[in-house]
Amino acid sequence: MRVLGIETSCDETAVAVYDGGRGLLSHRLYSQVTMHQAYGGVVPELASRDHVRRLLPLVREALADAQSDQDSIDGIAYTAGPGLIGALLVGAGFATSLGLSWGKPAVGIHHLEGHLLAPLLEPEPPGFPFLALLVSGGHTQLVDVAALGKYRILGETLDDAAGEAFDKTAKQLGLPYPGGAALAKLADQGASGRFMFPRPMLDRPGLDFSFSGLKTAALVALRGRVLDDTLRADVARGFQEAVVDTLAEKCRRALEVTGHRRLVIAGGVGANIRLREKLAQVVRGAGAELYFPRTEFCTDNGAMIALAGCLRMTAGMHRGPPMAARANWELGAE
Ligand code: KG4
Ligand code: ZN
Repeated sequence: MRVLGIETSCDETAVAVYDGGRGLLSHRLYSQVTMHQAYGGVVPELASRDHVRRLLPLVREALADAQSDQDSIDGIAYTAGPGLIGALLVGAGFATSLGLSWGKPAVGIHHLEGHLLAPLLEPEPPGFPFLALLVSGGHTQLVDVAALGKYRILGETLDDAAGEAFDKTAKQLGLPYPGGAALAKLADQGASGRFMFPRPMLDRPGLDFSFSGLKTAALVALRGRVLDDTLRADVARGFQEAVVDTLAEKCRRALEVTGHRRLVIAGGVGANIRLREKLAQVVRGAGAELYFPRTEFCTDNGAMIALAGCLRMTAGMHRGPPMAARANWELGAE
């Protein structure tokens, strides 16, 4: 089973070819980030128009890299949601039309399913079942993954996503959008302990998160002070430590409650080195194992969509509406 995967849910146009027997054969990505930076965030209409421009050349390149053509591709997988509706429609329209003209099935994939299956692209993939911490720009969720397509959300953010909190705080620190990775870099130069920000929701039972207060705490710490490099780095450090501690403690509790022996980190914030280090300690303490995708597959990519499509088609779990694009779509919901 060989699948062409297409991701256009936000500001990355990404295409990949995944083969059930041989693994990932190719992947290509075009990031629109510099185009949106001028506006301090993603402009949906610009994103859609750019996907239209980039998609076909990327598909041609990915097919050529994989030495594949229409005859060797068994199906097409595309991100059907959640995401920016215009951006999703570009990928969905393209994938379904290509499927019709090639006479191959096209399957709509949940973007978050793609993220949480991304560690399966690695040489030593986790088996099912596992606990997944999904931390991206739009979502923060703890998910009980029983099997392919069997997802139960154990906890999620009540307000900002972890990546969103990183990006908003980065903006306050004068870093360009999306500032998560830049904030992490700045934090490494900061002093630990100068700013002790709150660890939200740790005083309460349950597995939900809340990050909007942290961004305010960082703003208060900066107010009335000269924004020099030391202050910026110390605030970044304090902020990152608070987010990482909070995520890690909730993962510890979730491992305890579920009894899972595998923890998967997925989504853009999963690229954060301090988070990975802290979660490595948590799993050691719980006698569990930690899995994460390589950094480039933590953030949005086509490989995770091609992989999810391949797994679904192989399992016969790919029948859905002829074309789907949903801005809002809860993981696990039909
Ligand atoms: O999964 P993703 O590429 O897109 C969504 O589906 O949202 O995640 C992007 C998010 C952004 O908020 C970005 O700032 C954050 O991931 N991010 C990071 C790091 N690298 C990317 N946050 C913290 N530390 C990083 N190293
Ligand atoms: Zn994503």
